[in-house]
Amino acid sequence: MIITIANQKGGVGKTTTAINLAAALAQKGLSTLLVDLDPQANSTITFVDRREVEKSMFDVLSEPTVGFSQVVKPTSLPKLFIAPARISLAKIESKLAGEFDGHFRLKDKIAGARKRFDAIVIDTPPTLGMITVNAMVASSHILIPIQSSFFSLEGTDDLLETIERIKARPNPSLRVLGVLITLHDKRTVIAKDVQDQIGRVFGDKLFKTVITKSVRLEESPAHRESIFTFAPRSSGALEYYSLSEEVLARV
Ligand SMILES: Nc1ncnc2c1ncn2[C@@H]1O[C@H](COP(=O)(O)OP(=O)(O)OP(=O)(O)O)[C@@H](O)[C@H]1O
Ligand SMILES: [Mg+2]
Repeated sequence: MIITIANQKGGVGKTTTAINLAAALAQKGLSTLLVDLDPQANSTITFVDRREVEKSMFDVLSEPTVGFSQVVKPTSLPKLFIAPARISLAKIESKLAGEFDGHFRLKDKIAGARKRFDAIVIDTPPTLGMITVNAMVASSHILIPIQSSFFSLEGTDDLLETIERIKARPNPSLRVLGVLITLHDKRTVIAKDVQDQIGRVFGDKLFKTVITKSVRLEESPAHRESIFTFAPRSSGALEYYSLSEEVLARV
């Protein structure tokens, strides 16, 4: 399974979900690769020292001779590996736009890594540009985090339309794995309304697991850990564990 975490809205919990879903799958014993395709490199910084990153996903996507094996690094979790990003990745958008195989670069390169890992999770930037499209073309599944807020559904039409276009031609086997409500605040009435509304739009695609707002989840990347080692008994750890169970039941 190759799961892209995508939503072109910023700050909806893509990176938090990529980090903790990948860590949960690794803890369950699956050899897991987290691919960071966001130039902000937040997933990368959580698991590796930036100074140790020589080659990154920028090189994999731009240099025909550089493969995943040259960039993948181990993390402190035994079964979790990361393909790191650097800020230079931002340049890849314009670089790939002019290439005839621009949409297929990741798919071609990931074929090798596919054999080595049981699960691959891809974190994407908050755009629907070449990077996110590369991720969708290379993936078996998409997981869409949606923030529990009043305007959360604005823009999902564009996202769903992009997914449909990718299914129509470059990747017919792409499936929406599910929609995940994130940053949920159980105490507010509006959060409940938003949850009902998202449920009406996405039906059984909506994961039963809801990720609530939690200070622990916000803090863990700063301590360079997933939620499972940073605060294993927190609500965030339980929720992301439960998400990983749902994910494994659906793939
Ligand atoms: N459940 C949560 N509870 C509290 N804070 C959270 C939660 N999920 C994410 N955050 C915080 O919200 C901010 C945005 O989350 P995150 O970086 O995961 O979103 P993103 O979609 O990857 O953002 P971007 O679009 O910029 O890449 C971060 O500061 C993160 O720590
Ligand atoms: Mg992010």
